[in-house]
Amino acid sequence: MKKLLTAGLLGSIMVVGAAFPMMAQADEASDNALVENRKMLMDGIGGAMGTLGCYMKGQCELPDPVLANLAKGIAFAAGSGPAAFEPQTPDASVKTTAAGDVWTNWDKFAAGFPEMQQAALALADAVGDKGAMGAAMGNLGKTCKGCHDEFRTK
Ligand code: HEC
Repeated sequence: MKKLLTAGLLGSIMVVGAAFPMMAQADEASDNALVENRKMLMDGIGGAMGTLGCYMKGQCELPDPVLANLAKGIAFAAGSGPAAFEPQTPDASVKTTAAGDVWTNWDKFAAGFPEMQQAALALADAVGDKGAMGAAMGNLGKTCKGCHDEFRTK
């Protein structure tokens, strides 16, 4: 009986001891997943911008509905920005260029997403008129740069 108790006690000590590193790992894994998720969101936006830029430079032929959908894709992604960035990720071990100001200056940061969304929708509206698209692309690009300059580490 005494032996059993000791074994049981030892067992629970081991479980408690093991639980802490496991919890730390879970934080790291979930923070890493959050960082990867927001980077994928940005990479999708970047990919659409790159494709639109290819068209603007005359390097890619693309039909108008495709151009409009690329711009709308950016607008849609902008809508997911606040939710993707809101969770802080102090335990992430994967590379991130998000500056701490994202969370200490959250309202200003989050306001960048509706700005980007409006600019992307204006770009979708300009499809069919390459001159107007050029101006709209410029405005959209400014929303990227404005946020990146302030909220990304170099
Ligand atoms: C409201 C702020 C904000 C706006 C607007 C914004 N970004 Fe970002 N972007 C970020 C932040 C913050 C990161 C860093 C994410 C990280 O590393 O965790 C980032 C990262 C990126 C990355 C790198 C992703 C990676 O894999 O490391 C690309 C590409 C990118 N943005 C493209 C764009 C483009 C193109 C636009 C405009 C159409 C744009 N972003 C608009 C905040 C913004």
